[in-house]
Amino acid sequence: MKNEHNGYALITGATGGLGKAFVFALAKRKRKLILTGRNEEKLLALRQEVFEKYSLDDVYVYAADLANEQDRYALTEKIAASGVKIGLLVNAAGADIQKEFALYTQEKINFQCRVNFEAAVSTCRFAIEHRAEYLEIINISSVSGIYPMPYFAIYSATKAALTSFSIALREELKGKNAAVTAVLAGAMPTRDDIKEQIKGQGLWGKLAAKSPEWVAEYSLKAVRKNKRKTIAGAWNKVMYFGTALLPQSWKLRFIANRWRKISKDAF
Ligand SMILES: NC(=O)c1ccc[n+]([C@@H]2O[C@H](COP(=O)([O-])OP(=O)(O)OC[C@H]3O[C@@H](n4cnc5c(N)ncnc54)[C@H](OP(=O)(O)O)[C@@H]3O)[C@@H](O)[C@H]2O)c1
Repeated sequence: MKNEHNGYALITGATGGLGKAFVFALAKRKRKLILTGRNEEKLLALRQEVFEKYSLDDVYVYAADLANEQDRYALTEKIAASGVKIGLLVNAAGADIQKEFALYTQEKINFQCRVNFEAAVSTCRFAIEHRAEYLEIINISSVSGIYPMPYFAIYSATKAALTSFSIALREELKGKNAAVTAVLAGAMPTRDDIKEQIKGQGLWGKLAAKSPEWVAEYSLKAVRKNKRKTIAGAWNKVMYFGTALLPQSWKLRFIANRWRKISKDAF
């Protein structure tokens, strides 16, 4: 039963640029929502905005640090206690730390791996256990996971892992009233630092970037069709197919040259 009103939509990273775009896209469809992020104030403000713009009041908000196992456990316990069923899970929470690997602290390694991969896997497990009759899962991965990326190595590896996990999970859920889609997003002008980065890439940035609103709508359509994996944006698809046969050493050199100039750790 592919009914949009079937169960709640649980969105991680709901307070972020892409997360919010999902929240509004789903609120427009009058979908019941469960929103999570680290910051309770931001979540409450978002719930108020949803109410004012879309007259939707069936919205739970729960603050939790997904990098923290106890927080994650408390989050799932609270959702389970409310007795809701999950009809859609959107794993949009993510941390895109960029720097030379040698400069990472162990704490930052844990943080990025847990938010980008471990937390997404855990919420999938939770959604399956508390699923509505039909379950859709959107895992927001990245085109950065297509090739290993020097100077963005952990991010790229966690997104590659998320894509791989998502595809395997989809196969396990075949014939079980479920759809699982890995969305390989390209650049989206969400935060100021990302907007600057896209601007700095000139024409390339313009061609590759898609608005978070566009990516949210695109993802909802893709999971409705139960696409296994999808690259968001025509330019990103061209890049994927156009570079597939190039020698790995060329791609690594090109990526290293571009990415060694960028260092950011906003988390
Ligand atoms: N923007 C891009 O160019 C781009 C490109 C490809 C893929 N992506 C992926 O798209 C997704 C959304 O990106 P975005 O640009 O919208 O990012 P964003 O604006 O920075 O938002 C990130 C979201 O993740 C949440 N988050 C971060 N760490 C968390 C933690 N430890 N526990 C719980 N929540 C946490 C943040 O919540 P707080 O309110 O707690 O900060 C926020 O809601 C990410 O998975 C990202 O990797 C982004």
